[in-house]
Amino acid sequence: MRPLLIALPGNEALAAMMTAHGIADLAHVEFRRFPDDETYVRQRTDLSGRSVIVLCTLDRPDSKLLPLLFAADTARALGAARVGLIAPYLAYMRQDKRFKDGEAVTSTIFARLLSSSFDWLVTVDPHLHRLPSLGAIYSIPARALHAAPLLANWIAREVAAPLLIGPDAESEQWVRTVAEEARAPYLVLQKTRRGDFAVDVSLPDMKVWRDRTPVLVDDIISTARTMIETVNHLKRAGMRPPVCVGVHAVFSSGSYDALRAAGPRHVVTTNTIAHESNVIDVSPLLAESAKQATA
Ligand code: R5P
Repeated sequence: MRPLLIALPGNEALAAMMTAHGIADLAHVEFRRFPDDETYVRQRTDLSGRSVIVLCTLDRPDSKLLPLLFAADTARALGAARVGLIAPYLAYMRQDKRFKDGEAVTSTIFARLLSSSFDWLVTVDPHLHRLPSLGAIYSIPARALHAAPLLANWIAREVAAPLLIGPDAESEQWVRTVAEEARAPYLVLQKTRRGDFAVDVSLPDMKVWRDRTPVLVDDIISTARTMIETVNHLKRAGMRPPVCVGVHAVFSSGSYDALRAAGPRHVVTTNTIAHESNVIDVSPLLAESAKQATA
């Protein structure tokens, strides 16, 4: 029997793309809010003995977490053999240490919650800059997929004479991978974040790169300050309008418009989070890993 896929609200489009790859059948689940804003969940497909995949991208995670845990725990209570989570975007990966006294290390707490409800986890490019792997905080088998080959294909196909630019030293490893696969040169900038909306980026002398199209590559675009600062520097350096490529289109309120207003040629993201900038489809990647996780 094929696995069953449960799509949390908001994940229907990606779920349809994944089931089109024939890896699972879609389960029917009813989610709604009671008038007092509590969550109602009802599994309407027989889950007994079935391998269940729950699909839920975890941007804006706080309101998604309870419906997700309710759906997973109910699947298990109704006899599902295994319950795995595909979270194309995995939240709470950046607060992975106590930067200031008394802060919550939310990466660890969030990982503990998910690990207690799921048998396995698959995600795409989690923000693993200080942690060596997901296994450092997740106690279940947790697999990180990489969008780099998909980004590289898109860049090689769509951008003539690209120059890849990573925003900070932490990004070097994967910007280098994308650059190698796209057969393009790359630069890594220096970034200092002074606050949620305050980012300084320093650009080297760009004269030798004037015949190239800059392609800014980052894992997350959230406030977009990192991209906006870099676009502005590139404009001042007389470079062509850059292409901005992000894996996860988190885009906090107003940030997409602000980035567009800075004047890049394109803003392109993957569909790990549904957004109008989505161009690169990760569903084949997710479908393949779902097949392996449920084999
Ligand atoms: C940080 O280390 C990440 O890789 C991104 O550079 C960061 O999350 C981008 O954030 P924002 O869009 O808020 O500048």
